[in-house]
Amino acid sequence: MTSLAHAVPSRPAPAQPRPRADAGEITALALLNCAVRELCGPGRQIWPAHPYLVVRLPRAGVMLRARLLRPPLMTPRLAAPVEELRDGWSPLGWRRLAELVAGELELTTGEANPEFADQVTASHDAIAEVIREGRRPADDPYLDSEQALLAGHRFHPSPKARQGADWPRYAPETGRRFPLHWLAVHEDAIAEEGDVSLLDRLGPPVREGYRVLPAHPWQLALLRPESAAITDLGPYGPEAVPTSSVRTVYVPDAHLKFSLDVRITNCVRKNAWYEMPGAVALTRALRPLFDGLGAGLLGEPGYRTVSLGDPRLHEGLGVIVRDGVRGFAGTPLLAAAIADPYARSGAAIARRLAGSSPEHLLAWWDAYVRHVVPPVLRAYLEHGVVLEPHLQNVLVSVDDGGMPIQAIFRDLEGTKLLPGPWASFLGELPCPVADAMTYDAERGWDRVVYCLFVNHLAEVAAAIADLCPPLERELWRLTRHHVVRCTGETPTVPGGAARLRALLAGVPLPAKANLRTRWARDPDRAAAYVPVPNPLADLQAGQ
Ligand SMILES: Nc1ncnc2c1ncn2[C@@H]1O[C@H](COP(=O)(O)OP(=O)(O)OP(=O)(O)O)[C@@H](O)[C@H]1O
Ligand SMILES: [Mg+2]
Repeated sequence: MTSLAHAVPSRPAPAQPRPRADAGEITALALLNCAVRELCGPGRQIWPAHPYLVVRLPRAGVMLRARLLRPPLMTPRLAAPVEELRDGWSPLGWRRLAELVAGELELTTGEANPEFADQVTASHDAIAEVIREGRRPADDPYLDSEQALLAGHRFHPSPKARQGADWPRYAPETGRRFPLHWLAVHEDAIAEEGDVSLLDRLGPPVREGYRVLPAHPWQLALLRPESAAITDLGPYGPEAVPTSSVRTVYVPDAHLKFSLDVRITNCVRKNAWYEMPGAVALTRALRPLFDGLGAGLLGEPGYRTVSLGDPRLHEGLGVIVRDGVRGFAGTPLLAAAIADPYARSGAAIARRLAGSSPEHLLAWWDAYVRHVVPPVLRAYLEHGVVLEPHLQNVLVSVDDGGMPIQAIFRDLEGTKLLPGPWASFLGELPCPVADAMTYDAERGWDRVVYCLFVNHLAEVAAAIADLCPPLERELWRLTRHHVVRCTGETPTVPGGAARLRALLAGVPLPAKANLRTRWARDPDRAAAYVPVPNPLADLQAGQ
């Protein structure tokens, strides 16, 4: 660890009590977080007024405030209650806040969105239901962390919205497990690539000339496939454990990523026809790089689906096989559960590190950043690989003492390649497959920086700072130190070194605008970004 003794506060400031698990508060704070990041912050309509952050929705002419836990370095850390200025300050509920934010968005964009209120309500109601139902903790700490995300994405207006009434049976947050449904599909109607031998081992025996295809029971109910080539064999095999993305389940010891025709945050969660072969090709390309990066990869070595000339079934029944976690040293934990102050799991910093000395918190963060940051930046700078290291796509393995020892990256749908360094690899793939996994250098860098610093590290740092507020500057100073170390490597991507210099010089960071994206009903790939302060900026004196 770098020498930081000067910066460790001699007397820890009082830690924040863990926030209440209240669906209304969780919903209101997510809405306010989005409004501050996407509407009020960029419009310079936020004012720290100890102990509050006062914000204005400028077009609606409404003043709001919430408790500000400490001076913001990037995104203000807010706490309930949210209040509105009328005659005086008075609490406002999540419904009224959703109406006010919707009003501001309508005035800003000139467009209405009649679905918005229902999506916020569905998300609120789902959180309330999960709180009511409680959760059976999983014995396995990895699975426990996957199922712990009570509040979910803290910068999305409707993080837990799920269509229909069936979701509680399949929700990770309630600790549910369920057997998969198995289909026997005639060999002539099978499409597959790569290694899918796991499916044949897990599934029931089938007649000569047929192969097994597992189906998520929720998806099967939505899709109702009918074809002479498909026989429904019913539920079979070990119980599957839904992970934090809902549609990906864990079976010992692998993951199966299914299509789910349900909107979860910004996307209806389908395995697109070009993404399935793309995942297999990316696995081939990435595996050899990861050892050199000192990080783990959950590869996706194969997929299987049906090919009946009906794209709805081809994509809707597609399953991607993803590696399991048992091969990794230590105990892998989901980064989102580590960061989430509401997480109902021992993985959460709020539980795991409560009562730790500031020195221990710093040492823990140093290990965390040391394992997470360099592989992501080096993947981009040296190899032209754009990972998507947001909180839900990274596992961090911890040793018996709870110290981070390895980062493990997953989700190849969001992993992209830069066209220059990968030209010959991409040239051998069918065009739509290659196009879907290609990002230009600028867009790729923005995605890396958003996912790594804004979505991920800022939230983990904030969870530590909740335990010891004066430490937050020091956490970012340490982060800067690990970013600086990556400048010593030899970038092979043109423009890479300049981008890294700008990051360290403090250019604003890009933050994904989930509120605006939902309001515009844009597909996720068209999501806009807004600038947020870069906490790596004014720390140069410490270098
Ligand atoms: N901080 C976060 N950032 C992004 N997504 C989050 C966050 N917290 C929770 N989530 C949830 O994680 C999922 C992220 O979507 P993503 O596209 O990465 O996963 P996926 O492709 O559906 O599945 P998998 O990760 O299993 O491959 C969504 O379901 C989203 O609601
Ligand atoms: Mg994911």
